[in-house]
Amino acid sequence: MFPVERLPLAEAYAEHLASAGVVRGLIGPRETPRLWDRHLLNSAVLAQVVPDGASVADVGSGAGLPGIPLAIARPDLRVVLIEPLLRRATFLTEVVDALGLDNVEVLRGRAEELHRSADLAPGFDVVTSRAVAGLGQLVDWCMPLVHAHGVLLGLKGSSVRDELDGARRTLTSWGCSEPEVVELGADLLTESTFAVRIAWSDPTSVGWPARRVPARSKDRRRRRT
Ligand SMILES: C[S@@+](CC[C@H](N)C(=O)[O-])C[C@H]1O[C@@H](n2cnc3c(N)ncnc32)[C@H](O)[C@@H]1O
Repeated sequence: MFPVERLPLAEAYAEHLASAGVVRGLIGPRETPRLWDRHLLNSAVLAQVVPDGASVADVGSGAGLPGIPLAIARPDLRVVLIEPLLRRATFLTEVVDALGLDNVEVLRGRAEELHRSADLAPGFDVVTSRAVAGLGQLVDWCMPLVHAHGVLLGLKGSSVRDELDGARRTLTSWGCSEPEVVELGADLLTESTFAVRIAWSDPTSVGWPARRVPARSKDRRRRRT
């Protein structure tokens, strides 16, 4: 999962979570014995479905999950951790500096405030998120950050298919392709995790900033430019 030469980085990150992460209330004390299985490995399995050299945004990174384990497992990626809360963003910056993770940046803000940011144009190859919001809300917050040929890879639990049903209208309104659910870590984790992969159905119509399809438009094709 982690390249052997980067295992010390994963161990150092686990120590930060178990010490400062717990003291500052970013990780519950009861999580300490299961940090590797439920947090580091549960996040790092995402590496199996992220393309080579991708730019990745981790929306609502919290204490760095899944973005930091992903960046440790995959030094070829450029990972931006997006987190609105000051004390969490401060922790993230401290960890990134302490570990010397030169492929990670921390960006303080809410995802929806960044939809028009010229600095982020034309969007990310992969936008990921774990334990932040239900799928419909996640699509609203994350799809506008996804590059025309990129994907949203939301990490979800086993109820992911129920969530899909509830998010149909939102998926249509953004002009998303049919979502695909990929099981990850079945041979490694106590409990598998699932990535829901969502792309744009018509990448040629995606611009920056992205826009929804007008609800009552006669022309149902999505216009995002
Ligand atoms: C339950 S925590 C999950 C943290 C981490 N992803 C994990 O799996 O442990 C949810 C995080 O999402 C952040 N958040 C909430 N709304 C957000 C938004 N609109 N944009 C970006 N982050 C948001 C919160 O500040 C919080 O750190």
